[in-house]
Amino acid sequence: MTAASGEADWIDLGPAEDLAAKPLHRALLRTTPIALSCVGGVFGVVSRTCNHVGGPLDQGRLDGDYITCPWHGWKFHRVTGEGEPGFEADCVPAWPVKVENGRVLADAAGATPRRKAPHEPHPLARAIRREPGPVRVAGLSTTGMDHANPRFSGSDHLLDAALAAARAGGAETRLIRLSELSFRACEGYYSKAAAACTWPCSITQMEPADQLDRVYEALIHWADVAIVATPIRWGAASSLYFRMAERLNCVQNQVTTHNRVLIRNKVAAFIVVGGQDNIQAVAGQMLGFFAELGFVFPQFPYIAHSRGWSAEDMARNVAAVRDSASLHEGAAELAQRAIALAAQLVAAEPPARISRGGRKAQRIGPESC
Ligand code: FES
Repeated sequence: MTAASGEADWIDLGPAEDLAAKPLHRALLRTTPIALSCVGGVFGVVSRTCNHVGGPLDQGRLDGDYITCPWHGWKFHRVTGEGEPGFEADCVPAWPVKVENGRVLADAAGATPRRKAPHEPHPLARAIRREPGPVRVAGLSTTGMDHANPRFSGSDHLLDAALAAARAGGAETRLIRLSELSFRACEGYYSKAAAACTWPCSITQMEPADQLDRVYEALIHWADVAIVATPIRWGAASSLYFRMAERLNCVQNQVTTHNRVLIRNKVAAFIVVGGQDNIQAVAGQMLGFFAELGFVFPQFPYIAHSRGWSAEDMARNVAAVRDSASLHEGAAELAQRAIALAAQLVAAEPPARISRGGRKAQRIGPESC
C-alpha cells in the first residue's frame, strides 16, 4: 500500500534501540536504498547515492552531522541532505523521520528533491581540442634527483638532447621533471568502484596542491609527442615512472569504463638508461602501458644504453653517455622519428570507432561463450 498523494507514508525501519547502535548504515525505505544514521539519539535518513558520481553514502564516515562520501569526500548533512557549508544548494534527498512506540519511522512520501548545484569543472575536464601550431613535444624525466645537489643523469642528458633536436626541427617543447613535482600516489579509487576512478583524476580534483595536473595537461591537452626518459632501477623503470603510471590509470580507465579515448593521434617514444641490463623488459613494459593509453609509436620507439652487469663503474658510465656522439645522434633521431609520425597523425582523422572486443575488461559476445 502506498499513501494517497499529499499524505504521509510512514514506513517502519525497525526498533529504535537496535538502530541507535549503528551510527551509519544502509537500509531500505520500501525499495529505495537509504543511508540511515543516528547521532546522539537523533535519526536521519538520506539517499545513499552521492551527487558527485554515485558513491555509497551509507558506507561513508560521519563527521559530526555530515556524512563524508567514501569515494571522494563530498559531504552531506545526514538529516537535511544538504551539502556542507558553502555547498548547501547541492542536496541529496532526505526523508522525515520520527520515533514512535520504540520504532523508527520514515515518511516515504516526504522526500526532499535531489538538487545538483553546478560545481566548477576542473580545467582538465575541458574538451580535448588540438590548437593549431607546430608539433609539440613533452619530455618527461622520471629520474629521482636532489635538485639542491644535482648529479649527472644519463636519461635526463639524452632527453635534453632529444628535446634540443626537436626544437631545432621547429617543434615546441616542454620538459617536465617528475622529481620537481609534488604528487600523491594513486590511492586505488578504481578498486573502490569503477565509477570512483574519474577523469580528471579523483586526487587532482580533490587536492589543488597535487601537481600531477601538469603531466595530465601536457599528455592529454598539449603534446603531440611524449618522450619518456627513465633510468633502470633494479631491473625496472624508476619509482617515479611507476608513480606517474599509476596515476595515469584514470586515463586508461576512461577507455575501459566509458569507451572514452582521451589520447588520440599522439606519439610516444622512450629513453632508457641502465647501469645494468633489462632494457628490453623495461622498454616493453613502457610500450605496453603507453599503448593501452592510446599512444602510437615510431619505428624503433626507444633508445637505450647500458654498460652491463660487469661494468657498473658509474664514473665511466657517465662519460660513456656524456661523450657518446652516437647516443646523442640516436636521441635526436628518436625525436625526429616521433615528430615525423606525429605530423602525419595531426593531419589525419582519428578512427571514428575502435572495436572493443578483445580489449581490456570488455565482454565478448554470447556467440563465443
Ligand atoms: S564524492 Fe561521492 S561519488 Fe565522489
